[in-house]
Amino acid sequence: MVVFNKKDELTPFIQNLKKEGKTIGFLPTMGALHEGHLSLAKLSIAQNDYTIVSIFVNPTQFNNPEDLEKYPRTEEKDIELLTQNGIDFVYLPSVSDLYEEGEVAKKYNFGGIENVMEGEFRPGHFDGVATIVSKLIRAVNPDRAYFGEKDFQQVRIVQEMVKQEQLPVEIVPVPIKRAENGLALSSRNVRLSAENLEAAPFIYKVLQDAVSLKNEGKTPDEIKAFVQQTFDQSSFKLEYFEITDEETLQTLESFREHQKARGFVVAYAGDIRLIDNIQF
Ligand code: PAF
Repeated sequence: MVVFNKKDELTPFIQNLKKEGKTIGFLPTMGALHEGHLSLAKLSIAQNDYTIVSIFVNPTQFNNPEDLEKYPRTEEKDIELLTQNGIDFVYLPSVSDLYEEGEVAKKYNFGGIENVMEGEFRPGHFDGVATIVSKLIRAVNPDRAYFGEKDFQQVRIVQEMVKQEQLPVEIVPVPIKRAENGLALSSRNVRLSAENLEAAPFIYKVLQDAVSLKNEGKTPDEIKAFVQQTFDQSSFKLEYFEITDEETLQTLESFREHQKARGFVVAYAGDIRLIDNIQF
């Protein structure tokens, strides 16, 4: 496996492979890799001649400096894991390789999908995500880029950014990878206390119960009330639960046949923010 630290070396290298007709799959990550990332890697390896993973904890997408500081960094372990799992290239840049001194995130308008849910609770987050993903995709110039559906809203943002900026890449959404007990795999899980780790599958259980209620004919408002009540009786603090259209991410007042709907939840286990979603 080859590790690149500079985009000026990476970009022409990848360009040469593409000139030879090779296809490139790309996984942007912030490190602290787990089985969820590996499921994306596996798909990329199956669909492309070469796979490249970037590891970069992007400062412009953290609206909370403490969250940025506490974000797990496990570079050596990550590189070992990627080597063992057949990844060809890793891009491990410094902040100055991607940002000019004092540069801030670009301001994007994605027609409203950037202002709801994560956009509302983490102002500026998606400007940071879209800015860095645009920079990374331009640096790598892959044929396909892979994003996990645990961050479903992020997938929609990236799809819109790529359309707006006419980047010639296919965005491939990958279903959520869960632990056997249902907990959505996340880099943040390593920070959960043993007690919270044991209790955290509760979140997925509530999402599954919400889907059952929909199947019994309950309205989105009734389901929301159920979710709120269930969280109120638990050790988790609900930040939000929304049921939206999958495409527009706008809140649904009723379910319509053939409309793809999804339920989104964010909850705190102590000071750890956990995110999950489910298709309705
Ligand atoms: O999902 C992530 O890990 C990050 O938001 C991403 C896409 C790597 C951009 O920094």
